[in-house]
Amino acid sequence: MEERIVSAGKNFTDGEIENSLRPKSFGEFIGQEKVVENLKVFIQAARERGETLDHLLLCGPPGLGKTTLANIVSHEMGVNIRSTSGPAIERPGDLAAILTNLQEGHILFIDEIHRLPRIVEEILYPAMEDYALDIVIGKGPSARTLKLDIPEFTLIGATTREGLLTSPLRGRFGITCRLDFYNIDEVEQIVRRSVKVLGIEANSSGLQEIARRSRGTPRVANRLLRRVRDIVQVEGDGVITEDFASKALEKLEVDHLGLEGLDRKILLTIMDKFQGGPVGLGTIAAAVSEETETIEDVYEPYLLQRGLLQRTARGRVVTEKGYEHCERKYPGERRQTLFNEE
Ligand SMILES: Nc1ncnc2c1ncn2[C@@H]1O[C@H](COP(=O)(O)OP(=O)(O)OP(=O)(O)O)[C@@H](O)[C@H]1O
Ligand SMILES: [Mg+2]
Repeated sequence: MEERIVSAGKNFTDGEIENSLRPKSFGEFIGQEKVVENLKVFIQAARERGETLDHLLLCGPPGLGKTTLANIVSHEMGVNIRSTSGPAIERPGDLAAILTNLQEGHILFIDEIHRLPRIVEEILYPAMEDYALDIVIGKGPSARTLKLDIPEFTLIGATTREGLLTSPLRGRFGITCRLDFYNIDEVEQIVRRSVKVLGIEANSSGLQEIARRSRGTPRVANRLLRRVRDIVQVEGDGVITEDFASKALEKLEVDHLGLEGLDRKILLTIMDKFQGGPVGLGTIAAAVSEETETIEDVYEPYLLQRGLLQRTARGRVVTEKGYEHCERKYPGERRQTLFNEE
């Protein structure tokens, strides 16, 4: 069940709020400067030549703006976007139906493209390359292949796991953009924008405090902002200040680096049950009762980026910084031997 927030007498779900906060144009999109700069050039060039944009692959951890960028590209190209996701397309026929119904020059957005079934993926190869579908008619020795033309289109694929993409699929994207975590200033600008859109009162240090604890991720920043706003509305005087933001975030168990319960549980489990590692991801997942995929997609990237966790050939290892962050003593020397063994 989605939580509902009451604002100005109206009910909005968190999902609706997330949509209302989604930037609609490059002008509203903050950060990721290199990616934006490149996309602007490719879009302008395609528009000037009157061509469709080359297929585009957007990679990066959840909540950094892949879906947002796909929609911005469609807006800036002035074309429609049809959105679907990898697991939603089960059979080749489903994809064939989508492709034949596209309009010339329009965008097909496939989220979680790494989860596209293999037999469906194979339909995409000729579609992306020659704007054609290979349809097999009949079975056995009398089977024939028929080539069916489809409209020229742009495929935008989004993935949190670039490494899981097959190389034939990856190779067919003309443009690949990798999104990275935002810095604190950028996250602050994003929260500042959200505050304006939502009509919330906040001072700068309050916004900075939220930005610092948002793990460089706009979706997390907007979520924390909404929760802080709830607490300030009920317990404060309606204005988000640094004091209130940090009290609220402590209540939410978000620490000063932005780690939440499960992030700490992962680190503590590796330290307490596996002597700090190395330990395999599957083992960690079982120990904290989470899906391996969720840990790899959602939790691990930020722990790695902050240098609290390290990936080695033999598994995950908590770093000295990770021990410090959890206020545990770093078993330095023993670990050194382990590294030397590798
Ligand atoms: N650069 C940005 N500037 C302002 N807001 C942003 C930016 N990037 C993302 N957001 C906000 O963060 C939210 C999440 O972004 P988005 O849904 O595009 O992420 P995503 O990468 O598609 O995530 P997922 O992998 O989970 O699908 C959006 O609703 C939007 O409000
Ligand atoms: Mg998305």
